[in-house]
Amino acid sequence: MDFSDYLRTKTTHLEFKLKELVPEKLEAPYNQLFKAARYALMSGGKRLRPLLALTTAEAFGISGEIALSAACALEMVHTYSLIHDDLPCMDDDDFRRGKPSLHKAFTEGHAVLAGDYLLTYAFEVVAKDSNLTAEQKVALINLLAKSSGGEGMIGGQVMDIEAEGQTISLDHLKHIHKHKTGAMITASIACGGIIADATPVQMKLLCEFGDDIGLAFQIIDDVIDVTASFQKHGKAISSDSINNKSTYVTLLGLEPAKQAAHELLIRSHLKLDDLQIDCRRLRELSKRLVKREI
Ligand code: IPE
Ligand code: IPE
Ligand code: MG
Ligand code: MG
Ligand code: MG
Repeated sequence: MDFSDYLRTKTTHLEFKLKELVPEKLEAPYNQLFKAARYALMSGGKRLRPLLALTTAEAFGISGEIALSAACALEMVHTYSLIHDDLPCMDDDDFRRGKPSLHKAFTEGHAVLAGDYLLTYAFEVVAKDSNLTAEQKVALINLLAKSSGGEGMIGGQVMDIEAEGQTISLDHLKHIHKHKTGAMITASIACGGIIADATPVQMKLLCEFGDDIGLAFQIIDDVIDVTASFQKHGKAISSDSINNKSTYVTLLGLEPAKQAAHELLIRSHLKLDDLQIDCRRLRELSKRLVKREI
């Protein structure tokens, strides 16, 4: 199967599982919650984080089926972060994944609560996953909590809004990017490692690989904010400049920003050389996600 077919097949499996995990529950008196969560979840993201988890587990010879629910939990946490990121009190963006943002399609209250639901439900999904051992579940819950929490994505989002309107140093921006975006990307790869019972040495290499591609991914997200079209990316363009954010593009310029992402991608692949597993798909996926050919 060529790599594009592989990605299509895995994405289909993931989306089927996401729908199964978040049913509409039409009979529930609070069914708007599930409707809102599905609206955000099923509106066509790239599914990078769950794809990274599945591809990593498979590189160790573990069936993707085993990792499917945990991969969906990653996508739930990510989708919640996008719902809250778009709120008027955050980036105030009206479009996401090609459609009105959740607070525009429903209400702000529903957007806050659907985000809360997806976050908390993600932990339930891992806790009740019958494919995993108790040790793996505890490790995954710890990983998800840490990478999405104060020391990870949330911490990054706080630093991001506090830096609005200021010109910050490149080191400060790198720190923000590593937290707000890198932490969940690294966690996605580490999730595959946990499910495959990777050794501590392998886990360290996987996390170093994740740190590099996570930063590269956010650098390219900064690039997209100035170069891409709404048609291609389905989200507001120029949001960063409207919100007076420092980005890799404002601090370095467009071409040096792209070059920085490229160098991180090359460095990330060196980490894979020492893993002693079949990393061909992981290399291809990381290349595509940094080049945005996905
Ligand atoms: C957008 O993430 C937010 C960032 C962390 C840069 P993605 O670009 O992965 O968004 P979706 O999931 O494909 O919509
Ligand atoms: C978002 O970064 C990171 C999150 C944790 C959601 P951005 O604010 O740059 O993401 P987009 O550009 O809105 O997707
Ligand atoms: Mg933001
Ligand atoms: Mg945003
Ligand atoms: Mg952005």
